[in-house]
Amino acid sequence: MSLKSRLRRPARALEGATVVVRLGETLQTERLVLRKPREADAQALFEAYTQDAEVTRYMIWRPHALLAQTQDFIAGCLMDWDSGLRQPYVLAFWDSIESPIGMLEARLRPPLVDIGYVLSRAHWGRGLMPEAIRTLSADALSLAGVFRIQAICDAENRASARTLEKSGFVREGRLERYSVHPNIGHEPRPCLMYALCR
Ligand SMILES: CC(C)(COP(=O)(O)OP(=O)(O)OC[C@H]1O[C@@H](n2cnc3c(N)ncnc32)[C@H](O)[C@@H]1OP(=O)(O)O)[C@@H](O)C(=O)NCCC(=O)NCCS
Repeated sequence: MSLKSRLRRPARALEGATVVVRLGETLQTERLVLRKPREADAQALFEAYTQDAEVTRYMIWRPHALLAQTQDFIAGCLMDWDSGLRQPYVLAFWDSIESPIGMLEARLRPPLVDIGYVLSRAHWGRGLMPEAIRTLSADALSLAGVFRIQAICDAENRASARTLEKSGFVREGRLERYSVHPNIGHEPRPCLMYALCR
């Protein structure tokens, strides 16, 4: 079965007063496929960026020293994907969908979706992440139960702030002492809140 024929429309359901939000299992952009992770992705992600101290500088986790850490991370992604808590997509080019180069995660908290993202350094600067974020955001905001997509980044993470601005997000404010980024220090750091609403 071709990839395109496997694409599913975003599903949504109302269960009593609780809004359940679910994005497609696969999303597509001009250059990228966003798909559910597989256990076998751990090796490619480890090689691409999970052990890279420059990529992980502003993340809330430390670089992985062992492949097993990335394997555990993927196992957690799959558990949360299946439970409906979050949809952490891996990003891959259309012509090599088995070789992920990054991730874009949607944490499903209707009426909002909170996103996080990371890309292999080899692919920075080509507008790939804004392309992925724009597609995911449009998809999520087309759901009846979603009104807001938000993202929080370290106040010094210029590349991340620019990524959100290029994705159409609006800077709403600065959150003092908001989040610990352990690769920089142990104290909570200021962050910027960005959002795209409908
Ligand atoms: C943030 C990130 C996903 C951006 O992805 P991307 O596909 O490279 O995004 P873009 O190509 O649109 O570039 C966005 C900004 O990154 C910066 N940038 C681009 N190439 C860069 C490079 N080679 N080195 C450092 N920064 C670079 C620029 O500020 C750029 O803005 P500009 O287009 O106005 O010049 C990527 O830099 C990354 O993975 N960073 C590490 C993880 C991270 O910080 N994630 C966000 C946590 S909140």
